[in-house]
Amino acid sequence: MKVIWGKEIIDRDKVNIDFEDRGYQFGDGVYEVIRIYNHTYFCVDEHIDRFFTSAEKIEMRMPLTKAELKALITDLLRESAVKNGSIYIQMTRGNASPRDHSYPSQDVVPLLTGSITASERKIDKMKNGMRTTLEDDIRWLRCDIKMISLLGNIMLKHEAHKKNADEAILHRGDIITECSSSNVAMVKDGAIYTHPDGNLILPGITKIVWKSCAEKLNIPVYEQAFTTEELLNADEVFISSTTKEVMPISKIDDKTFDVSKKGSITRLLQSCYEKEIV
Ligand code: PDD
Repeated sequence: MKVIWGKEIIDRDKVNIDFEDRGYQFGDGVYEVIRIYNHTYFCVDEHIDRFFTSAEKIEMRMPLTKAELKALITDLLRESAVKNGSIYIQMTRGNASPRDHSYPSQDVVPLLTGSITASERKIDKMKNGMRTTLEDDIRWLRCDIKMISLLGNIMLKHEAHKKNADEAILHRGDIITECSSSNVAMVKDGAIYTHPDGNLILPGITKIVWKSCAEKLNIPVYEQAFTTEELLNADEVFISSTTKEVMPISKIDDKTFDVSKKGSITRLLQSCYEKEIV
């Protein structure tokens, strides 16, 4: 298997990462997940832009340009036999031994790695919906940075899994923010509501795509906060992410939603999204 390591594409077994790499010791790094459909990447420029923005927010210097990164990703894709799947890229602040919390000097070179994994679209869940639970958003206050320190997110996803659900919908106090690895939106009286971008959520790329679908379909979108009570009284709820696309929600804790209705707003967004990817 070929992977990105620094500015090269090499065999995975040649990768040699020091145990004092700051990604390993501090979770000091940023990442992206980019979807591949039919040997082609989807929204690659948007993901590269967000990757650079995340790095900038933690004052991490990028050792390559956006064009160089795109060329590397393109080369990796060309080397790979994967038809449908995801590209994972991450950049850590590099190895600045000995271990020290302070940011190292700018001569420490950040470490880029990247790989491709095969995975099919979650067609069954997209049809039948995902089950979710409501969980207290225990994460920090910079959820806009797509960083590799994901302990809060994985603890919350684990809570959902323990309750036999697929995903955790998060709330701070009364307000719904996002999910452990997706954005969330609700539909009420023909309009879509979703939490505004800012420090409490990740600005999703999939959200950009479904928002443009909603615009084409003349469905109003309000990026404004809503409460758990409003969510539970919604007509429809869906979540979105690179790997889940537009995903209907069939259950939030004990509350069920009928996802079989044809012509619902979630279904309209799903078919519009599908046209974007093929
Ligand atoms: N997760 N919010 C969080 C916390 C996420 O981790 C993600 C994506 C999203 C949706 O972002 P996008 O539409 O750009 O994928 C929202 C990725 C897929 C992951 O960590 O695997």
